[in-house]
Order: sequence, then structure tokens, then C-alpha cells
Amino acid sequence: MRDLSEELLAWYDVNARTMPWRVDPVDSKAGKRPDPYFIWMSEVMLQQTTVAAVKEYFRKFTTIWPTVHDLAAAEDADVMAAWAGLGYYARARNLLKCARVVVNDHGGAFPDSYDTLLTLPGVGPYTAAAVASIAFNRKATVLDGNVERVMARMHDIHDPLPGVKPVLMQYAETFTPNGRAGDYAQAVMDLGATICTPKNPACGICPWRDPCAARVAGTAAELPKKTPK
Ligand code: ADE
Repeated sequence: MRDLSEELLAWYDVNARTMPWRVDPVDSKAGKRPDPYFIWMSEVMLQQTTVAAVKEYFRKFTTIWPTVHDLAAAEDADVMAAWAGLGYYARARNLLKCARVVVNDHGGAFPDSYDTLLTLPGVGPYTAAAVASIAFNRKATVLDGNVERVMARMHDIHDPLPGVKPVLMQYAETFTPNGRAGDYAQAVMDLGATICTPKNPACGICPWRDPCAARVAGTAAELPKKTPK
């Protein structure tokens, strides 16, 4: 049987986007892991904000507060001021709360398991899975808008979001490999961001073009469907 996650990883090895918090695939395969503090911070910022906008804020935050200890000791007002412009200010309040919990209750080390990560302030299923996989190479399935779109298209699912989410999660779990969990999580998000895009998907250069049911059916661009508001 074809190993679709291996094929996506081979694509990622060549096409991974460079991000300030990311370890590139050559180093990742050699066993290098990124700083969990950086991964957590970038993923909190990336909720509801584009990669382009996040890069600048990520650099600012990690310059002012290079470790979770520095952030935990920050003044609330300084963190809120640095966050200005990113929006969704509850994220900034939770960022600080979470840093303090990591320092006070976890000895300054981010937990490496999905279940424990979930107990942290502001960390939901998406962020817990992203940190467990990307920072610690633990098998965990990330399901963001990119992954939902890729899964809906791979299986030509026409049932609308948000109701169909649990089905898409099951498919996403089925694809998640045992090895290279972190690279895989980032690969499927990069695929959704650069090739399997909401409009005009570049199916012709997609590493999953052959097994993609929506490409075969000609329905990729109309998926996923959404329940009208
Ligand atoms: N979007 C949110 N998190 C991401 C990541 N780690 N890689 C690519 N796109 C993302």
C-alpha cells in the first residue's frame, strides 16, 4: 500500500517553509527539536492570525522575553502593550498566565504530553497537539482550517463544517504517522497553506494529487462546504 504520509514528508523535505521558530527538516531528521517555548508562543499567535503577521510579533516577544522564565516575570501591562495589533487579547492574558503556570507548577519546562498540555491556560486541543508533535515529536493530530480542507478534499466530503469536524478529525488521525510526528504536522499545514489553498488549489503540483478524491471528482475548489450562517 502507498504510504501517503511518507509521500507528504518527502514533499516537505524539499518544500518546507522557513519560519523563525521552525527547525528545518534536515535538522529535524537528525533529531534536533525546536524550543517548546517558541513553538507554544508561535502556535498561540497563529490562532486567528496569518504567518506573515505573526513573524514580526514572534521576533519582538522572543527578543524581549527569550525564555518562559522571562515572560513569567513580565509585567502584565508590558505584555499587553507588546501584543497590541495582534487582536484577540484573551490570548495575551492566557499567554502570561500559562507562562506563570509552566514556571510555578512545571519547573519551567513545558510538559511533553498532549493531556498535560491541555491543562495549561489558553491551550486547547489544537495547540496541545501542535506543541506535543512539533516540539516533542509525540504522535498527536493537529486539526486547523488547513488540515480540515486537505482532509475534506482527500475524501471528497461534501457534508458542511462545522458539523463534519469529527469526521475530518478521524481522517486526519488515520493519516498521522508514528514517526516524524512534528514534521508531518507542519507538512500538512504547509500543504494547506501553499498548495491545497481555499481558492485555486494547485492540484497539478500536489504530492497527494493521485489519491485525492476531490481532484479526481473535480470538486476540490468547492470544498470544504460550510453551513450557511
Ligand atoms: N499554521 C499554524 N501553525 C502552523 C505551523 N506550525 N506550520 C505551518 N502553518 C501553520
